[in-house]
Amino acid sequence: MSEPKLKAPRGTYDVLGEQALARTALEARARSILEGAGYERIETPTFEATELFQRGVGESTDIVRKEMFTFEDGAGRSLTLRPEGTAPVCRAYVEHGMHKRRQPVKLWYLSSFFRHERAQAGRYRQFWQVGAEALGSEDPALDAESIVLLATLLAEMGVRNARLRLSSLGSAESRSEYRERLKTHLRASEESLSAEVRARIDLNPLRAFDSEHAGTARVMRDAPRLLEHLSAEDAEHFAQVRGLLDAAKVSYEVDSTLVRGIDYYTRTVFEFTSDALGAQSGVGGGGRYDGLVEQFGGPPTPGIGWAAGIERILLAGERSAAGNQPASGPVELFVAIDGSGAELTRLAFGLLGEARSAGLTAQMDLGGRSLKGQLGHANALGAHYVAIVGGEEAVLRDTQRGGQERIATDTVVHAVLRGLHDL
Ligand code: HAM
Repeated sequence: MSEPKLKAPRGTYDVLGEQALARTALEARARSILEGAGYERIETPTFEATELFQRGVGESTDIVRKEMFTFEDGAGRSLTLRPEGTAPVCRAYVEHGMHKRRQPVKLWYLSSFFRHERAQAGRYRQFWQVGAEALGSEDPALDAESIVLLATLLAEMGVRNARLRLSSLGSAESRSEYRERLKTHLRASEESLSAEVRARIDLNPLRAFDSEHAGTARVMRDAPRLLEHLSAEDAEHFAQVRGLLDAAKVSYEVDSTLVRGIDYYTRTVFEFTSDALGAQSGVGGGGRYDGLVEQFGGPPTPGIGWAAGIERILLAGERSAAGNQPASGPVELFVAIDGSGAELTRLAFGLLGEARSAGLTAQMDLGGRSLKGQLGHANALGAHYVAIVGGEEAVLRDTQRGGQERIATDTVVHAVLRGLHDL
């Protein structure tokens, strides 16, 4: 009786073959765009103290209320698999005293995140994000640069019809005044609202804009808009961001109903969507979070950033799997064994190592095949040279120019290097 086969858990998947190549290509693009703009790579731990997300992402959000993978360590401390990257990056900024560096500090990451959501196409329980965070400046040019970088990445990955929605949530003060106004509006039509929105009038009234419930949507149609109640300073900041995006020829729509599912946002918020994605249309999004570093015990520090889902970029992108080559390039030398025995294998294995140390891409058949099988493998790889090791001597074939010669095994690497050089 065979054992039952095990599968990857629901909402997770294996990355292999063309998908692995496509990711490597995406990572290379992201790295070149972001590091070119002065962003440094950061990787934070896969799990953090649960409190980090409770404080940072917010107790009233779906993420904290129902989507976190939380567990206890042996000492009874509550830990959580990171559901997002901004709170951990701000924690690291404080922990490493990065406010003492030249500001803004620009950081990027490409990591996996975890949310216990209903799994479907484009929505997973373990997913990957590429993200960029810039801390320590409230200059609207930093907002614009951040948005342009994401627009560039999406365009270079061939994401079709990416639509950019943009809004401003104002600073904490203008928002708290507005929240009161919105609560009054919601209370006036309480009986038309969904039960969920009604239960959250005090906790998170802005999320009512996200509701698909028909009655709620009707009430929200003539709800007061935060964009119309920004302080003069916030309105000016937003106007400058828009002006800079115009100058950079990035098109966008101002959408006063845009609220994001995380509590830390202030001022600029934005989201890129793509029709190519169906229901899960959000490819990437972000915004300012000017109070977050302070919430983790740091000095008052503004910040702005975004994250985009790797799976969604690849799903929506034209340049996904097709045309990606393994980084290794073509195989320059294939080492085959003519005969059997430990001594012969040792000689061939030595030659393989010598070739690689000399910088050649070299492979050998490690499947215990006959000479014919090994030569078939070399052929399938398109190897340029094949060395058939019979002992102290080897036959070296040049598969591209034709012809072969019998030479001392320890001169094979030299002969291949010379041959490639003469090409
Ligand atoms: P978010 O909007 O929650 O923002 O996620 C950003 C992107 O991650 C989404 O647009 C989507 O592409 C992808 N994503 C989210 N959840 C899933 C999932 N379950 N499966 C597949 N993809 C998913 C944030 O996470 C913020 N930290 C962004 C940010 C950075 N704001 C400021 N800085």
